Amino acid sequence: MRALIAGSGPPLLLVHGFPLSHQMWLPQIEHFQSSYTVIAPDLRGFRDSDISPGIVTMEQHARDLNVLLQDLKIEDPVSYCGLSMGGYIAWEFWKHFPDRLHALILCDTRADADSEEDVNNRLKMADLVLRHGPEAISTAMIPNLISESSQQNQPHISEHLISMIEATDSEGIAASQKGMAARSDFSDLIKDIHIPTLFIVGKEDRLTPPAVMQQMSTQVLESKYFEVSDAGHMAPMEAPDLVNQAIDDFLSTRLNS
Ligand code: MLT
Repeated sequence: MRALIAGSGPPLLLVHGFPLSHQMWLPQIEHFQSSYTVIAPDLRGFRDSDISPGIVTMEQHARDLNVLLQDLKIEDPVSYCGLSMGGYIAWEFWKHFPDRLHALILCDTRADADSEEDVNNRLKMADLVLRHGPEAISTAMIPNLISESSQQNQPHISEHLISMIEATDSEGIAASQKGMAARSDFSDLIKDIHIPTLFIVGKEDRLTPPAVMQQMSTQVLESKYFEVSDAGHMAPMEAPDLVNQAIDDFLSTRLNS
């Protein structure tokens, strides 16, 4: 697995969403590298990392992250920050490697599994990408990924998202899409999370709306909930200053106290 490593200090692991790469975190990498060792991988099948055709489960991604941390000789527990699919992987990482976690930052994600309709849509999308490439889905995904105001006022974000999606291998996209379709339901388990957890969501997020994130935050004992105005599903890209500030405040009050 390839990863961008920057800075020094306590480890901060940034796990990207679907079908993107570590590049979605550029504003966070730039901001946090002055005080943290930022580790921003490209998950299996994405950008520069190896591709496994077929299906890549969320557990496989979590195991890959554990191997990455072993290879990097990171022994201190990490602050794990994941967006959407990066959040689905967070639940598996917490289940299998709880001692590796210091804190969780969950952006625009959910804990429940897919409905039958969601599964069918994912399988159709995987098939479409395998037959026609990522160009068949890239532009159509934008309205679900970012808010209307970001689409109008920050066109560079749409361009960056489209270029990340189109640079991703079709087999890699299909394999994680099938992995998400098969993911486990963690909605009854997250009440057992006993580490500081920050939930961040864009107010205009259509895929994982604020109500879903807020409900999850009430289940986790030591949690904090933060909504980002004018942002959609990609809040860390759309409103990096607000998101970085929320993460800074959370990490400094929860971890240094
Ligand atoms: C993501 O941003 O990672 C995706 O929206 C996850 C999903 O398709 O459920």
